Amino acid sequence: MTASITPAQLYAEIERGETPFILDVRNQDEYAAWQIEGPRPVPMKNVPIWVAVEDSESLAAELPEDAVVVCAHGNGSDLLIDVLEEEGRRVRTLEGGTAAWAALLVPRELPGLPEGMRGWQIQRPSKACLSYLIGVPGQGCIVVDPARFPEPYEALAAEHDMTILHVIDTHVHADHITGGIELAERNDASYSVPIEDTGGPTPFPNTPLVDGEVIDLGDAQIETLAIKMPGHTPGTTCVHIPGHLLLTGDTVFVRGVGRPDLTGKAEELARELYHTVHDRLQPLDPATMILPAHWSTPDEVAADGLVRTTLGHVFESTLLSEADLVHFVQEIVTSLPAAPDTYDTIRLVNSGQAATAEEIEFLEIGKNQCAASTTV
Ligand SMILES: [Fe+2]
Repeated sequence: MTASITPAQLYAEIERGETPFILDVRNQDEYAAWQIEGPRPVPMKNVPIWVAVEDSESLAAELPEDAVVVCAHGNGSDLLIDVLEEEGRRVRTLEGGTAAWAALLVPRELPGLPEGMRGWQIQRPSKACLSYLIGVPGQGCIVVDPARFPEPYEALAAEHDMTILHVIDTHVHADHITGGIELAERNDASYSVPIEDTGGPTPFPNTPLVDGEVIDLGDAQIETLAIKMPGHTPGTTCVHIPGHLLLTGDTVFVRGVGRPDLTGKAEELARELYHTVHDRLQPLDPATMILPAHWSTPDEVAADGLVRTTLGHVFESTLLSEADLVHFVQEIVTSLPAAPDTYDTIRLVNSGQAATAEEIEFLEIGKNQCAASTTV
């Protein structure tokens, strides 16, 4: 009998500190590109499946009981756990393998919202991506920067009796395929992505947000505004609930700023980023909760499991406080990490300039690389 665990169960187990070990049986290149990463470290090693089957006797002796075997789609790990069982060791297989892990979305409720409003940060551990669903139960909600799996957003909205009215991509993403277009279409909602980022009209319906625009959430009288924040991309447009929160997209992270080079204009956009930081963000309430679209390392996760900080803290602890424009730009552009080869293709797909690629899983491999590296 196959003992198995779902991605959601594995994530929860890792969070509780219960998973003793992960054995990843993909090939070495696949393992090097990315691994299972939960909210806390788990001992892990890579033994390609053909080696693991050959060495099953020693593996059975080495693996702790209840270790989790991971492969690309769940077939190799199913095979291996049967072999290990014959050797007297009971371990578990990750259902659907890393492909299923890549689709895992974990919603966490946001505190501190205006009365009557509820919201969730939806974490995608495989890419360290964050999206948001915020709205008013019984009325409407917005979904911001969604991953390419519509069902979890629809289920969350339905569970809280909310209609998805608007789907917003803060910018044309380079690290993941957006689910925004499909989610909007399925729910008869409007879709917004900045036209400065798409380079013009798109083959899909797009209603770009303008700076200061009030985003309609049904009858609720909760001020929800679009705010232009160019820098990471030319058109980045974020969502601001004054006095409460700012969804910053890839402009500001818990530990710094988004890279300005992905559209090939690093210096120009770094200067725009400086003006966004000093002209748009600095005047806001420092207690404003900053909710980004990514994290990079587990230390960006707060004690409550949310990736969040305050505007005041970001200004105190990162490059944002740098008042000198030349130095700010120099700090960013001189130490940018290499961008993955797939990013140009993903941007073209997300802006409607290329057909949806057949090998989406391949394009999306690995954690995001959206932060500038000079971020503390
Ligand atoms: Fe981005």
